[in-house]
Order: sequence, then C-alpha cells, then structure tokens
Amino acid sequence: MPRNVVVTGSGSGIGAALTTLFRSRGDRVIGVDLRGGEVDADLSAPAGRAAAAAAVAERADGVVDAVVTCAGTSVPGTATVTVNYFGTTELVTALQPALAAAERPRVVVIGSISGTRSTDRDVVAACLADDEAKALEHADRAVADGRAQQLYPSSKSALAQWARRTAVAEGWAGAGIPVNVVAPGIVLTPLSAGLFEDPETKKVMDTAVPMPLGGYLQPEDVARAVLFLASEENSHITGQVLYVDGGAEATLRGPADF
Ligand code: NAI
Repeated sequence: MPRNVVVTGSGSGIGAALTTLFRSRGDRVIGVDLRGGEVDADLSAPAGRAAAAAAVAERADGVVDAVVTCAGTSVPGTATVTVNYFGTTELVTALQPALAAAERPRVVVIGSISGTRSTDRDVVAACLADDEAKALEHADRAVADGRAQQLYPSSKSALAQWARRTAVAEGWAGAGIPVNVVAPGIVLTPLSAGLFEDPETKKVMDTAVPMPLGGYLQPEDVARAVLFLASEENSHITGQVLYVDGGAEATLRGPADF
C-alpha cells in the first residue's frame, strides 16, 4: 500500500534524496518547501507552519503515514531557531491527529552531530518551554555577543531533546507513533558546501567532526537510515538519536557516553 509521506525541505539535499527514495518505493510524497514542493510554505513563522499543516492534511485526506523533517538552515542567526526547531516541532505537533489516524505512523526529525556541541542553554531552555519569543530574545543576544555560531547546535540539541520527550509523551507512543532523530555528520549538500571553499575551514571541520568510517556522507546515505526508522519495519524504536556520522559521535564523546 502506498503511504502518505510528508518531507519538509524536499527541494534540496537530504530532503530531495528522501523524496526520490520514497517515490521509488511507490509512496506518495507531499513535499513541503519554500518553493517548488507540493506545499509551498515558510516554516520560519507560525502562520507558515499552520498553513503547511492544513495544506498537508488536506492533500493527505487526513491520514499521514510518516513525517520526516529536513527543512533547516545552518546560517548563524535566528533562523536556526525558527526553522530548525519551531519549524519542526510545531508542524509535527499540528500533524499529530493525521498521524494518529494512520495504521503505522512514523516521525523522523533530522538533527545533527552538532547537537552534541556547546550550546546556548537559555535558547535551548526557551525552545523546550515552547516559548518562541523568549528563544528569539536569547538568540538575538547571542548574535549581539558574537556567539551566533552557538545557535545551530542549540537548535539541534533542543530538537533532539524535544523528540525524546515527545516520543514517550501522551498522544505519541500510546498512539503508536514512534518519534526518532537521525543526526548526520557532514553531508555533501548545498547547506554544507560553503564549509569546503576555504581549506582552513575544512581543516577545522575535519577536526570538529572526525568521520573515520567512509568520510563525508552523500544525502542518500542519510536517506537510507531515515527510511528504516520511517518504515513499518520499525516497530519498537522510539525516542532515539541515530548518529549517521562515520563514527564522529563515538570519537568525540568516547565509548562510555551512549
Ligand atoms: P539543504 O540546504 O540542501 O536543504 C534544506 C532545505 O530546507 C532547502 O530545500 C530549503 O529550501 C528548506 N528550507 C530552509 N528554510 C526553510 C523555511 N523557512 N521553510 C521551508 N523550508 C525551508 O540542506 P541539507 O543539508 O539537506 O539539510 C537538511 C537537514 O539536515 C537540515 O535540518 C540540516 O540542519 C541537517 N543537517 C545537515 C548536515 C550537512 O552537513 N548538510 C549535517 C547535519 C545535519
């Protein structure tokens, strides 16, 4: 049976690879992106998220079998908070009734290895308190203080914590909806392309994200891992962060932290 699969950020990188993969299996993908998707929406603001959720539910006739959230930005600034965090959490929450209406619904959110790095605790706490105005206040302060680089890891750390909390909250595990995170290392997509223009930046990245198994990822490498967690074959895995990172997380955190 074809499944109704929602992919945000479907127009590029990991989202585009996933869209191709799901479609090759006969699934019906409803892509959400700024432009060119089945649903065009700006997930950086509440109105865009609500419009996207309504348009998706309508296209899916109220039954969504899987949601995979890939829309994101790594530009150091407040959009990391509004798109990466709230653009995911609000959309997924709004789609809960359509997921609960499916027989074997699944949610996968794309995190990042960077979620293990140093974060702005105030931004993370405000995100987890579902207070976007406060999160933006703290994010603006981080930018003003020259700490804008902390915002991307903060958005991804908060996202992983939200997913773990949500997975076991009422309305999710009890409704048969696994929620997991796939956290990639460095993936060769338009988002990361800028990192490799300058050899010095590349050296810094290679130290910050060591990937002894296989080096940098192609978007399809991430898509295959997502596919399993989003599939009916995933019966009992929920609240987990799966690092698809060539060994970066194990290298950086060491064997005792899992
Ligand atoms: P990408 O830049 O190729 O694709 C991101 C997509 O998100 C684009 O299609 C873009 O239009 C969409 N998007 C951005 N802002 C949006 C908004 N306001 N509303 C709706 N859609 C919006 O990036 P990539 O690499 O495929 O990234 C996908 C996810 O993977 C992101 O969440 C990113 O943080 C994460 N990731 C990427 C890594 C990498 O090295 N490329 C590493 C770890 C995580």
